[in-house]
Amino acid sequence: MITPLPVVVLISGRGSNLEAILDAIADGELPVEIRAVISNRPDAAGLQRPALLGLRTIVVNHACYASRCAFESVLQTTIDAFEPGLLVLAGFMRILAPEFVTHYRGRILNIHPSLLPEFPGLNTHQRVLDAGKRESGATVHFVTPEMDGGPAILQARVPVLAGDDATLLARRVLEQEHRILPMAIRWYAEGRLRLDATGHVTFDGAPLEQPRILLPGAREPS
Ligand code: GRF
Repeated sequence: MITPLPVVVLISGRGSNLEAILDAIADGELPVEIRAVISNRPDAAGLQRPALLGLRTIVVNHACYASRCAFESVLQTTIDAFEPGLLVLAGFMRILAPEFVTHYRGRILNIHPSLLPEFPGLNTHQRVLDAGKRESGATVHFVTPEMDGGPAILQARVPVLAGDDATLLARRVLEQEHRILPMAIRWYAEGRLRLDATGHVTFDGAPLEQPRILLPGAREPS
């Protein structure tokens, strides 16, 4: 029996990735304890489910601070009070300063709705469509000071279909986000996944040169 890893989750909105994490915990598939869910937006719908489950939910509203630095200082103090072993950005839509990210070096994961390193940043799905791509997907990566630029851990791919618009493509990608985020968190909680001192990912003690790929219908990556 693994001691559950203490985790803090940051969200900004709907919270479907957080729900996927909560579902995996409820199913006994994820040995983590959610110590707190923190939103930078007071109206985030994603705060509702954890609150119903009796989890600690907190708002640190970025709009209430004069600078990013002031916001992140309060955010960091709030997070650290829960002593997380892992911080998960699950649809957290603020850019984080290098000082903040460095404080949690090797213990922040993010989910991004593209096949990184392609299409970092916002408005991903429309940019994929505009570029005429035949394929898109989702990536879990370690967070480093470079936005959406940290080493990728796990990806799932989806086809771009004729007639897709950004909404349809986003929906198809989101299904995959819900598969790969809990999986990567589980690997981390089990001690299988690390960011080493040189900035490289190790998986089961060996260098992970490429992100692992979770194929449709597979329970484990190839
Ligand atoms: C997801 O597509 C995530 O990858 C992106 O924002 C969306 C958040 O969705 N960064 P949700 O709040 O988890 O439902």
